[in-house]
Amino acid sequence: MALIDPFGRAITYLRLSVTERCNLRCHYCRKPDDFNEREDDQVLSMAELTRLARLFVELGVERIRLTGGEPLLRQGIVEMVAELTALPGLQEVNLSTNALLLERLAEPLKLAGLGRINVSLDTLRQPTFTQICGAGDPARVVAGIDAAIDVGLAPVKCNMVVMGGVNDDEIGDILNFARQRGVTLRFIETMPIGEAGAQSMSRYIPAQEILSRVSTLLGADLIPATEHRGPGPARYFHIAGSHATVGVISAVSQHFCDSCNRVRLTSEGQLALCLGDVGRVDLRAPLRSGAQDESMKQHILQALAQKPLKHPFDQGGSSGNDMVALGG
Ligand code: GTP
Ligand code: 5AD
Ligand code: SF4
Repeated sequence: MALIDPFGRAITYLRLSVTERCNLRCHYCRKPDDFNEREDDQVLSMAELTRLARLFVELGVERIRLTGGEPLLRQGIVEMVAELTALPGLQEVNLSTNALLLERLAEPLKLAGLGRINVSLDTLRQPTFTQICGAGDPARVVAGIDAAIDVGLAPVKCNMVVMGGVNDDEIGDILNFARQRGVTLRFIETMPIGEAGAQSMSRYIPAQEILSRVSTLLGADLIPATEHRGPGPARYFHIAGSHATVGVISAVSQHFCDSCNRVRLTSEGQLALCLGDVGRVDLRAPLRSGAQDESMKQHILQALAQKPLKHPFDQGGSSGNDMVALGG
């Protein structure tokens, strides 16, 4: 069976948000006073989320990325990874995290079968970390990254959202950090998702400018990599004269919607068809009213008919979506 959207794109990748809770308040993601976090009966149990994930896999999903909020805050995350990795047909279970809790969890996650880890790393400096994230300690993030490398959750990727006047003077330091550890660094353009994301656009730097700064800092050309575009939206570049690569995620300046292969499921069982579109389809109601597997699959197939062609960011549009619910 295959999940094909109205534009002929095969949906093989599910981003599954396991919680809206987070131990940080990154200003491009959520408002500082946004403590409206639920972990009540609105939120699907791990068994319910795992069941929905299985149905998506039976419909053709090959890769699942666990997100949040901060997914490592959710009780039972390791057990969930173990259950997901046992699903026939699922090729990869990966996870995106802020890494504050990763040092302790890297090994159990690896043993449970987790594939790859992506870590948010906007800064290594404590004052800038506090400015961006409201709390937290970059040393704990580094300890988490090192633990992931040690246990072989490879390749570890780091995501740096580049913001003018906030952390753009740290591009060189983060590049050095990544190259010393052999982790792949991706630079991300700020995206106007939700109120917090829309405000972050005053700091926006286009990917082309980021890449040209990287090239100058390294004193090397960046050669577009054709061979491993990977399953996600990043474009990768070889650093001339080395074996290292860097990536860029340019959702605003050069969208990648033509090759979109994904949908998102929130921790409350809402299926979000596009990061840039507020349209959601509620899967929790039928799930909790006792729908059998085949009927749930019909709900998923019908929902897919609503997937839009692209997000509106390049036309100045923003999304009323909530990044912290959608998991990026
Ligand atoms: P892999 O390619 O599997 O490593 O994952 P990824 O890069 O898709 O995942 P990650 O969670 O690290 O996300 C990196 C950035 O890409 C985040 O800022 C996401 O919001 C963004 N992103 C992921 N998927 C999409 C998408 O479909 N559309 C847009 N506009 N941005 C996306
Ligand atoms: N623009 C760009 N990236 C964002 N992320 C969260 N909010 C935004 C935004 N408004 C990134 C995080 C994390 C990833 C999952 O999404 O930095 O690395
Ligand atoms: Fe938490 Fe990630 Fe949002 Fe930061 S970007 S507040 S770490 S969910």
